Formats: sequence, C-alpha cells, structure tokens
Amino acid sequence: MEAEAIIGALMTPEGRGEPYPLYAAARELGAIRKVKDWPMHLCTGYDEINAILRDNAFGKMDFDMLPAEWRGLLLPDGAMESISRSMLLMNPPGHRRVRSLVSSAFTQRRVAGLEPAIERMTDALLDELAALGAGGEPVDFMENFAFRMPVSVICEMLGVPEADRYRFRPLAHDLTFVLELTDSFDDFGPADAATLELRAYFTELAARRREQPQDDLVSAMVQANDAHDGRLSDAELLGNLLLLLVAGFETTTNLLGNGLYLGFRHPEVLGRVRKGEIPVAAYVEEVLRYDSPVQLTSRFALTEDAHVGGHPVARGEQVMLLIGAAHRDPKRFANPDVFDPTRPDNVPLSFGAGIHYCLGQGLARLEGRVAFEKLLARFPEIEQAAEPERRDRLVLRGYETLPVRTGAPAA
Ligand code: HEM
Repeated sequence: MEAEAIIGALMTPEGRGEPYPLYAAARELGAIRKVKDWPMHLCTGYDEINAILRDNAFGKMDFDMLPAEWRGLLLPDGAMESISRSMLLMNPPGHRRVRSLVSSAFTQRRVAGLEPAIERMTDALLDELAALGAGGEPVDFMENFAFRMPVSVICEMLGVPEADRYRFRPLAHDLTFVLELTDSFDDFGPADAATLELRAYFTELAARRREQPQDDLVSAMVQANDAHDGRLSDAELLGNLLLLLVAGFETTTNLLGNGLYLGFRHPEVLGRVRKGEIPVAAYVEEVLRYDSPVQLTSRFALTEDAHVGGHPVARGEQVMLLIGAAHRDPKRFANPDVFDPTRPDNVPLSFGAGIHYCLGQGLARLEGRVAFEKLLARFPEIEQAAEPERRDRLVLRGYETLPVRTGAPAA
C-alpha cells in the first residue's frame, strides 16, 4: 500500500476505528517516507518521531503561516484561530513566553498538592457510580466517571464553579475536531459553535476573576494579561484557557476509558494489578503505549536543512508523526502487539517530547493512578455490560460509551 493510500484510509471511519493494521502497512514503507506528489512525509519510527519532536528545525504550522486563502475560509475567533493562539500551535519565541507563564502556575508542587483533592473527588464519583449500578443496572463508565473525574480536577485548578463542570463534554468533543485529519474546512461548523460558546463562558469568568481574584489559574492568567507587558494578549488568554480546559480532560477521559476496556480484554493482567503484583503506574504507562489517547501529531520543517537521520524534509513540508505506530515499533518494543505492563523501559510518546511536551503529563499520570487504584479496590467484580461505542476520531482515540456492571462494592 502506498503512503497516500494509507493516509486516505486513515481518514475513513473504518481506518479511524482500527488504525493499527494501517500503521503496520505504513511501517513497511520505512520509518519515514515521503508521500509522492504531496508536501508531506509519513513517520512511524519511534526514534525518528522522538528526534523530530525534539528538533527545533521542526515546528508547528502557526496561524500566521496558514496560507491566506485558508485563513479566509476560517471563522474569526473560531476553533482554528482560538487553538492557534494557544501554546499548542505556537513556535518560539512566542511559545516560550506563553508556556513559561502558564507553567509557573502549573508547577509539579501544585499538582502533587492536589492529590488529596483528587482522591476526595474520585471517592465521591465512585459513590455515585455505586449508587447508579446498585440494582445490577448497566452504567456508562465514560459519562459517569471517565469524563467527570478529570473535568472536575482541571476545573478545580482553573477555578470553574462546580455547577458548570458537566456541560463541557459535548463542547470539547466538537471543538477538538479541528485536530483531526480533514481535507476541508466545511466540517468546522460544530467546532466553531463550541468554541464561541466556550469563549463566551471564559470571557465572563475572566471578568469575574478580574473583579475578585482567587487562588486559581484563571485569576493568574488574567493578572498576566492585565499587566499589559506583552506576556499574554487577549486572544492568547482565551486560546490558552480553552486549551487548558479541553486538553485537561478530553485526553485523560480517553486514558481511563481505554485503560478499563483493556483491563476487560486482559482479565489476567487486571487480576495481577488488583493483587498488587503489577504497580498501577506501570499499568497506566502500558495503556498509554498500547492504545494511546493521542495517536498522532504533526510538525513542519521550519529551516532549509531539516532532516531526520539521512532523510531530508524540505522547508514548509509536513511530517505526520504517527505516535500510535511508534508504540508498535518492533525496533523499540519487544513483542509490541502484546499488552504487557511488566515490559521494561516502557517510555511511550503519548505526551509528545521536546518543547511541546505535555504540560499536564504529571497531572494525567496522577489521575490515572488514583482512578485505577480506587476503582479496582472499590469494585472487585466490575465487568463489561455491552460493547463500547468508539468515538469516530483518529487523533484523540477513545470511547463515547463503555457500559459496565459495577458488581457488589468491596466491604
Ligand atoms: C492522558 C492524558 C494526556 C495526553 C495523552 C496528552 C497528550 C499531549 C500531547 C501529545 C501533547 C503535545 C502535542 C504536540 O507536541 O503536538 C500535549 C500538549 C499539551 N497538553 Fe497534554 N495530554 C494529556 C493530559 C493533559 C492534561 C491533564 C493537561 C492539563 C492541563 C494537558 C495540557 C496540555 C497542554 C497545555 C499542552 C500544550 C503544551 C505545549 O504546546 O507546550 N494535557 N498533550
């Protein structure tokens, strides 16, 4: 199969649902391969992806680099423009300025200090799950736990009032469509509508925090914006608040859903985790590797001499980095298609690498560990109640629903 055909297949519902055979076909073409007649390369090798992510000769297609005719098709302040004003799609030096500002409020210490609060929130949500499933009724794990737990945590950090938190799932789902592979902007309507709603919400919340600052991220970012010293423009304030909200739960929701489903598929592994023979943290790492919540990202060559190994990438050309394929690279992982949380030296690329390395990786790993520790202890008999429904997405891979029976809670 040619690279062009593989990319085409990855853009179909079937390819999105089951991308791993297509990744294997892409690997047959080599660790990195130029797509014939397109300004694009397809990269599947772990070492090559890792190297490109860490190489400043490669960067993002930021808003100003978008061809003018594309920009003309985009809604002002819509999904693409908003996300482009966040650090996720910025290049240095702007990226450095915004990232250092947000990370100063998002320290390891702050994240570690959140653990007791995360445990309390998790316990409360497991109480609700127990009540919903008490009569043996199937309960949707995705809506009732996998979404609610991380959205509660990131909203607590941002300072979003409790009453507002559960409305964000459909909005984030719509907004994140802009990260998907698409060959037209015609489908951006729901993403734009969700973005406008979220921007209106955060404009209002920022105004309230401007009046009365609190000890939260929205207040910290509003203060940086108000300093008018060039640290954070109005567009960047909103773009980054939306990014923090959406990145803060959408991917972690999928980590929890993908992880529980893998547990159902591998009951012997789950049994060993329950008995403490496999550390929960190692289980989480293997879920990240085996079915990564982020399957791909892209970089563009920013210089004339960009290359990986001996493979040149001309300035402006795109490299599609198939993280999900890198995780099955036999040069990096022994028996890569086997789900094995005991594998040594397991370093997945699920959080990226280099200057865009996920700001929330410590938080996501903490949430994953607390969630599975508490879930497995609380429901020793939890089981799948029906087939899950997968989200029709390639980049952010996860389930829409995962029906479970909780079984009797542990005494
Ligand atoms: C399992 C959960 C998560 C996964 C798999 C994940 C994955 C990623 C990846 C792959 C990137 C880099 C994208 C690129 O290089 O193109 C990234 C960036 C980012 N993530 Fe996460 N993420 C997760 C959870 C979180 C959480 C909980 C937060 C909390 C706010 C967060 C905030 C961010 C931010 C702000 C960036 C942009 C960093 C930058 O561009 O400098 N993520 N994430």
